[in-house]
Amino acid sequence: MEWTKPEIKVEPPGPKSQAFIKRDSEIMSKSLSRASELVGKAAHGVFVQDLDDNVFLDFGAGIAVAGVGHTHKKVVDAIKRQAEQLIFANSLDYYTVPQVDYAERLVNIAPGNFKKRVFFTNSGSESVDGAIKCAKYYNRKMGRGGYYGFGFLGGFHGRTMGAVSFTTTGKGARKSFWPMYAGNVIVPYADCYHCYFGQRYPECGLFCLDYITDVLFEKAYDADDVAFFLLEPVQGAGGYIVPPTEWLQKLQKFANEQGISFMVDEVQSGFARTGEWFACQHFNIEPDVMMVSKAMAAGLPCGAFISRAEMQDWWSGAHEGTLNGSPVILAAASAVLDIMEEEDLRANAKKQGAYLKKRWKEFQEKHPEVGDVRGVGLMVGVEFVKDPETREPDAKLRNNLIKQAFKKGLLLLGAGKNSLRLCPPLIIQEEHVDTAMEIVESVWKKIK
Ligand SMILES: Cc1ncc(COP(=O)(O)O)c(C=O)c1O
Repeated sequence: MEWTKPEIKVEPPGPKSQAFIKRDSEIMSKSLSRASELVGKAAHGVFVQDLDDNVFLDFGAGIAVAGVGHTHKKVVDAIKRQAEQLIFANSLDYYTVPQVDYAERLVNIAPGNFKKRVFFTNSGSESVDGAIKCAKYYNRKMGRGGYYGFGFLGGFHGRTMGAVSFTTTGKGARKSFWPMYAGNVIVPYADCYHCYFGQRYPECGLFCLDYITDVLFEKAYDADDVAFFLLEPVQGAGGYIVPPTEWLQKLQKFANEQGISFMVDEVQSGFARTGEWFACQHFNIEPDVMMVSKAMAAGLPCGAFISRAEMQDWWSGAHEGTLNGSPVILAAASAVLDIMEEEDLRANAKKQGAYLKKRWKEFQEKHPEVGDVRGVGLMVGVEFVKDPETREPDAKLRNNLIKQAFKKGLLLLGAGKNSLRLCPPLIIQEEHVDTAMEIVESVWKKIK
């Protein structure tokens, strides 16, 4: 089925979707937070169809997962081919070819001109938890304390116990789940639109960095006791926040000098999303450990952490998992890399990202409620405010926009308190951006 535009047959959620949502509400965990009342029946390219046969233009891609678009033929073919040959071989017991084939490709595109090793996981959270163990191991191997790990305010790293210890997009992630990872320290991120110290960049002279390096490391923490810094190069769930390049570079330099592992979470920003293979490459930073997942296998449960080789020189059995490194999933992941290369999706992410930002900036000129338009490649954040001077967040406006756009066939996702995260499949074209903006404009009057 080839869809070319959204098509609403019955106001969503239609009767079939409503009946299904009722069933879901009876049996599924209440912890699942659904961004919209969409029950997916099929998805192809940049479109998703619901149970009532409405067709939506997808500007969320399942939070940046459908990078190559939904059900890309080459991904589906790779899955079928591999499934007919070998679905599973427990990597605790045997070797499998797709693991090494893929790992060799992954280390080649990962930032850092040094020898690396790869560990495959089943999710972003699991990648983060494994990376934490890896940094702790290495810190101790180097004869240091390795007790503390530093995370950054507004960061999202997942829901498993290690990852959630560093997730501070909102109190709800950690509330009632104490104790966290022992030694988790949360420090300010360079969120310049809403500076934690009430300052303005660049006049601030990177005060938030000095606070970490000159205050905390002077008065409270000995660098020898700190195993790692863990951060997103562009904050995702926090609101698509892009820090100044010099902040990231200086932070990394400090970590390197102090022997602290610099761990970058590329779970959301990785795999061409920002116009480079990884967001790190925009900022010219080279992490000691990098975590990936989401777009890696076009929606199959897959992740990895990649580190300097010496950091994974640990003992046999130090870290393993039964289902990790599935041949079928890694065949799909290889197909994703093929597609990204063949269709030059890094270039398209840059091109369409620039166009999407331009369209929103034009919209912003007419509507002061759009406080900030920011982002890298097709990771575009749009923030809504009550007043552009005070920058007071307007969550209601953002939420209404998501709701009304949904009714017109456009899927949008929120991030942070009051921002949109626009992360469509990397295959989108200008006409899709135009359609999305037409829908935004058509519902705008209604929501204000
Ligand atoms: C930056 C980042 N890290 C980690 C995760 C956790 O990934 P998962 O949901 O696959 O566990 C997410 C999920 O949104 C993420 O955006």
